[in-house]
Amino acid sequence: MHTMLKVTKAVFPVAGLGTRFLPATKASPKEMLPIVDKPLIQYAVEEAIAAGITEMIFVTGRSKRAIEDHFDKSYEIEAELEARGKEQLLELVRSIKPSNVDCFYVRQAEALGLGHAVLCAEKLVGESPFAVILADDLLHSEQPVMKQLVDVFNHYHSSVVGVETIARETSRSYGVVDGKEWEEDVIKLSGIVEKPAPEKAPSNLGVVGRYVLMPTIFRHIRALKPGAGGELQLTDALESLLTEEQVLAYRYFGTRFDCGSKLGYLKATVEFALRHPEVRAEFEDYLQSYLPMHLTAAAA
Ligand code: G1P
Repeated sequence: MHTMLKVTKAVFPVAGLGTRFLPATKASPKEMLPIVDKPLIQYAVEEAIAAGITEMIFVTGRSKRAIEDHFDKSYEIEAELEARGKEQLLELVRSIKPSNVDCFYVRQAEALGLGHAVLCAEKLVGESPFAVILADDLLHSEQPVMKQLVDVFNHYHSSVVGVETIARETSRSYGVVDGKEWEEDVIKLSGIVEKPAPEKAPSNLGVVGRYVLMPTIFRHIRALKPGAGGELQLTDALESLLTEEQVLAYRYFGTRFDCGSKLGYLKATVEFALRHPEVRAEFEDYLQSYLPMHLTAAAA
């Protein structure tokens, strides 16, 4: 494959205020909220690594320190664990950032929207195609979802957005795509609209926070005018891009947890706890005794 077309970079917009999780997010980013024992941003980075991505570009804002520290070496913790002979924990801490992975940080000075956040990464991305991962969409799948998208990209060499079937009445929470199914689960886009009213939604396919984008997107972002919510929307730049080149949507395999909402976050916690080797068995026992008692009590 032409090396310029290899996806080796991922952009993580992490400058959002996380107002739906206040007070937890007052002094630390929502992407540092843990699901069982790992922060959301680490799940996102692991998904990128599983797709062959080695350069992680974080577009940060205020209270960014925790994310930088998380992917940095912690001499104190490592020295302490080493002194106490805690080999496994030491390995766990060291493996957060594998040695072939590099992290870069760029600051988004103003919260002007997702399109603007992606534009902040332009200099670091350069001329190559790149992934965008929104860490608060936590995706569980046998084959990591970003790997699925990169496979589609490698086949078609055009921008591709991850989509899932949504309930029509929830269209105001998503970018919604219009287009023709080309191949099973691959849709060639003819339009895309950010947060439409249900009666205006062109389909029941909503964008999830996974994209592989051609660098031509930057020119379209730069030309944007404020869209839904007064923000520079990545969706609008895609709508403009598809007038010039092919853009695809891919219906991925997997389950999405919207960890930007309290309910989605709680569901993810239960699901991931029931898969976690250390707590799985006891947590299941706990739910089995807790639920019948409390659900009956609530229904009474
Ligand atoms: C963003 C995108 C939207 C997409 C969604 C997925 O919206 O603008 O197109 O459907 O992520 O999570 P946000 O959730 O940041 O409002």
